[in-house]
Amino acid sequence: MLEKLMIAGGRPLRGTVQISGAKNSAVALIPAAILAETTVTLDNLPHLSDVAIYTEILTDLGASIEWSGDQMVIDPSRMKSIPMPNGKVKKLRASYYLMGALLGRFGEATIGLPGGCNFEPRPIDLHIKGFEALGAEVSNENGALRIRAKQRLRGAKIYLDMVSVGATINIMLAAARAKGSTLIENAAKEPEIIDVATLLNAMGAKIIGAGTETIRIEGVDSLHGCRHSIIPDRIQAGTYMIAAAATRGDVIVDNVIPKHMEAVTAKLQEMGVHIYEMDESIRVVGQPEYESVDVKALVYPGFATDLQSPMASLLCQARGVSILTDYVYSNRFKHIPELVRMGAKMKVEGRSAIIEGSFLSSAKVKATDLRAGASLVIAGLSVAFGGVTEVTGVEFIDRGYENLVTNLSALGAEVWREREE
Ligand code: UD1
Repeated sequence: MLEKLMIAGGRPLRGTVQISGAKNSAVALIPAAILAETTVTLDNLPHLSDVAIYTEILTDLGASIEWSGDQMVIDPSRMKSIPMPNGKVKKLRASYYLMGALLGRFGEATIGLPGGCNFEPRPIDLHIKGFEALGAEVSNENGALRIRAKQRLRGAKIYLDMVSVGATINIMLAAARAKGSTLIENAAKEPEIIDVATLLNAMGAKIIGAGTETIRIEGVDSLHGCRHSIIPDRIQAGTYMIAAAATRGDVIVDNVIPKHMEAVTAKLQEMGVHIYEMDESIRVVGQPEYESVDVKALVYPGFATDLQSPMASLLCQARGVSILTDYVYSNRFKHIPELVRMGAKMKVEGRSAIIEGSFLSSAKVKATDLRAGASLVIAGLSVAFGGVTEVTGVEFIDRGYENLVTNLSALGAEVWREREE
């Protein structure tokens, strides 16, 4: 049953919101558990549709999984590398991690090319080059990748032409049990990569340098179970920070690692938002007026591309013209025409959105991907006078925001779900 979000804006968000574990870690840590011979326990797991789909996929592959509250216990001991050319793997982008994990444990994998948020073509050529460098043969069979290693994978030196989160993690997964040493150069440095390396090391892997541009992996013969707590979701946290500013609210965003939020914090402060950092929380106090700023979405530790869309909604409210440029995805602007329907003055030029200060009004809009959806929710919350904004495509938003309606309601927003006819 499809649903839509209904938002009566104009209410400042006030109170405290708890941030869940990181989606982009969870969808890598769950497949990473395949590499172990015994039980892996993951704590601080978010309740999200992507996590639920991953759980079903691992179960189909023979894992036994218990998921209660925010804890998941995965017993991968009886898993097999069953071909999955179609079906559930097509529902999420991060199904590509099955390739590295199954290849690493069983030396073979057949996985359909991933689905998920397709805001623009998202190639996985670097993942494939990595698998091949480790000695696997990769062929495309009717839209599924067949990856086979005739003998045990061998460590190799791999330079990534582009800084890729997915390729860095996938190569770590495949190389953890390879023979010899693997060096990933020009690796991505996102906190989620450190989280995956931390789990793998707790499983007995030997990985050093995660979080820097050079990662060294000494292959080991086998990996064992362990217990690991997932890092907080910095994108979810950033979204609530931006929403607090956009509604002129006063919100404590709790269970965050403030260091992970530095790029957002700095940009919000530059606009005039007041921010107070504590050990594990950040208080965001909105102000009546904001200055325009230029934002460049970059790889970590730069401003996250996943927060570029939410930020567009806040920049509508700044005095003057802001330029928002995405250096990670050149065409990630499907939220812009929808924001224009709400009265935003913005246009896309090349890989930038040019945004002028404007008043937003309620409208019927459509989320076409996860973070575009977040931007429309923030826009709906910011509509100052009258009317209800209807956001369809809620299934995309559910992929990344645990308890969104409950959390926003607790902060004083008037937001509810209705069945979409
Ligand atoms: C991950 C995140 C996503 C985030 C993105 C960038 C997950 C599940 N998703 O996606 O939320 O927006 O990082 O921070 O963690 N590229 C290639 N070839 C490849 C791989 C990537 O050309 O083989 C390009 C992409 O098109 C893009 C850039 O490299 O322009 C970065 O992509 P990448 O970091 O791989 O993104 P994902 O891992 O897919």
